[in-house]
Amino acid sequence: MASGKNSVLVLFNYVEEKDEYVALRAIDPSTLDFTPQYSIHVATVQEEYDAIVHALIKEGFEACCINLKDNFSILHHLITQNPPDVVFNLVEFFHNDLNNEGSVAGFFDLFRVPYTGSPPFCLSLCRRKALTKQVLLQSGIATPRFRNLKGPVMESGHDLNYPLIVKPARQDGSAGVDITSVVYDYPQLMRRIERVFSEFKAPILVEEFIEGKELHISVLGNDPPQVLPIIEFNFSELPGDHPHLITYDIKWNPLSPAYHKVHSFCPAAIDAKTEKLVKEQALRAFVATCCRDYARIDLRLGSDGVPYVLEVNPNPDLTEGVSFMESAEKAGLCFSETLRRIVCFALQRQA
Ligand SMILES: Nc1ncnc2c1ncn2[C@@H]1O[C@H](COP(=O)(O)OP(=O)(O)O)[C@@H](O)[C@H]1O
Ligand SMILES: [Mg+2]
Repeated sequence: MASGKNSVLVLFNYVEEKDEYVALRAIDPSTLDFTPQYSIHVATVQEEYDAIVHALIKEGFEACCINLKDNFSILHHLITQNPPDVVFNLVEFFHNDLNNEGSVAGFFDLFRVPYTGSPPFCLSLCRRKALTKQVLLQSGIATPRFRNLKGPVMESGHDLNYPLIVKPARQDGSAGVDITSVVYDYPQLMRRIERVFSEFKAPILVEEFIEGKELHISVLGNDPPQVLPIIEFNFSELPGDHPHLITYDIKWNPLSPAYHKVHSFCPAAIDAKTEKLVKEQALRAFVATCCRDYARIDLRLGSDGVPYVLEVNPNPDLTEGVSFMESAEKAGLCFSETLRRIVCFALQRQA
């Protein structure tokens, strides 16, 4: 750290040969058979990490980013030979296994290198959606009633109320969620269960589908954690036969018409009493699952007025203007300032 500046190493792990979003650059939006509302030329993976590095440099850090490409020697070398003051930990899996997310954070702990975001226990817990739901329930936080299936078997006399949603229990980013994920009767349920089991490893969650508003609540900081303005999703432009949920296409695929029909807005259109309740529950979920520095809680507001937590996302997506950062901006924190604060939380742990 010859410059006197704190050094930040932005670490990520990306192993795809080609970034699909690079290929999108070659597509002329006017040739699509629908009119896209948003640009189909979204940022590539590299551009997103570069944006974080540039923002950190703007905030006065010495920063660079490195893709581990699933190579443990690179990770070992970086952390043992010339460790940075802080690792900005954006590694979500290792050796093609999402369960290793926590192990990578544990590696930083063992070498006593400060890193941003949640500790191994939290990352491993939240990766297991069913276990997380048990922890939430024990902490007095509502979550949709559910079954955690180890195999494609579920009796017709189950006591869950339709509609139900079937989703992989250990994925994220709406992987395995599409318009046929919501089922209205037993034959549909069994067809969907078999389909999800054919594509994803056990376990699979079957949950009561909560039809109300979808809210994403971001939390920043530790002493005390701060709940940022709430994001709500507007599904009203979706075609009538499209259930109101965030599918994989809606989240990630600009070539899908549905991607352009779901809009987030912030703050959510909820009354003050509901806002207070939702924020309290999100904060309790953050604490109950041992989140640290920053997290996003995905939640649905039931017709009974109860906020049902769907899942807790430690180390959520930090794309500028999206999700966590959309909430931060509404709170008056620009992209670089938010990143600076996250780095400072980690630096304080070193002291
Ligand atoms: N029980 C549920 N009720 C209503 N919608 C749900 C439910 N579970 C999931 N969804 C929808 O599916 C999306 C993805 O599910 P989620 O549990 O957040 O998993 P992940 O984001 O990790 O893939 C949610 O954002 C929501 O739109
Ligand atoms: Mg989610």
